[in-house]
Amino acid sequence: MRILVTGKNGQLGRSIHKLVNTDTKIDNNQSSNEFIFVGREELDLSSKSSISHYFDSNDRFNVIINCAAYTAVDKAEVEQELANQVNHLAVKQLAEIANKQQTKLIHISTDYVFDGESGKPYIETDETNPINVYGKTKLAGEKALQEIMPTNAMIIRTSWVYSEYGNNFVKTMLRLGKEMDEINVVSDQIGSPTYATDLAGVILEIIKSKEFKEISQATQIYHYSNKGEISWRAFAKEIFKIAKVDCKANPITTDQYPTPAQRPKNTLMSKGKIAKTFSVSIPYWGKSLNNCIEMLKRS
Ligand SMILES: NC(=O)c1ccc[n+]([C@@H]2O[C@H](COP(=O)([O-])OP(=O)(O)OC[C@H]3O[C@@H](n4cnc5c(N)ncnc54)[C@H](OP(=O)(O)O)[C@@H]3O)[C@@H](O)[C@H]2O)c1
Repeated sequence: MRILVTGKNGQLGRSIHKLVNTDTKIDNNQSSNEFIFVGREELDLSSKSSISHYFDSNDRFNVIINCAAYTAVDKAEVEQELANQVNHLAVKQLAEIANKQQTKLIHISTDYVFDGESGKPYIETDETNPINVYGKTKLAGEKALQEIMPTNAMIIRTSWVYSEYGNNFVKTMLRLGKEMDEINVVSDQIGSPTYATDLAGVILEIIKSKEFKEISQATQIYHYSNKGEISWRAFAKEIFKIAKVDCKANPITTDQYPTPAQRPKNTLMSKGKIAKTFSVSIPYWGKSLNNCIEMLKRS
């Protein structure tokens, strides 16, 4: 299979790349697959013509994994048009191309499609109600994809993604923790962190599964994050503990830390559907955090 991965310089794109190149188990299993990784230089999702040009000048792909997205949650409040182009209109265009070329599409979405007020873990069919521009554009992308591709596509919603790559909460805490004796961290937003390597592994598992290979399967939404639930403050405390950083994480409320974009309070998602459908085991967040910090120490 020819598999196109967008967002090659992002956390998830780089994590898929790392697994395809280094994990011998996955490598052996994926040996009949050719992965093509592209960034905005090759395929600019902010440009309709760049997208058409890219697919017109390349052979058909069997699968597209769309890891690229406009992910600057606060900036999206002012760059609404750009966020909408990348997270919605480009996804629509990718779906149209995938539909025409009979390509399977795996698209990554977010827990921010929910308003966080449910009080219990969200399942895939729960009502969406995004409370910021980023969430609205990602939901619009989901809807466009589902409308154009009633079959042959898959949306994986994930949350609080971190990795060895790029900018993320774990790396920010490690940096600030070394510079300061104490920091204030929001303690009333609850969710589940996702180590990008774990999500990348699951995506590769899915691609080789029997369920995925069955043609004209109905398009589905799945939720994926690590297991367990936690606040940002508790997450910060654990990061300091594992990395042996001497910094205190003081709890503050969301109101005490105003940001341009509103954040949902509790976006914990149920992962039962993806675990059951593809028989994947989902690691607890603490174990995965250990793995990531270990990787960071080695780099
Ligand atoms: N990060 C999170 O906490 C989080 C939470 C929930 C869901 N998600 C979703 O998970 C997926 C992967 O996220 P991630 O954490 O890997 O994000 P990321 O690290 O921010 O990577 C996103 C990638 O998209 C690329 N991109 C942005 N605009 C583009 C454009 N116009 N054309 C082509 N590429 C463009 C970026 O390119 P450059 O490197 O050139 O900027 C970047 O490599 C996304 O769909 C995101 O919405 C993420």
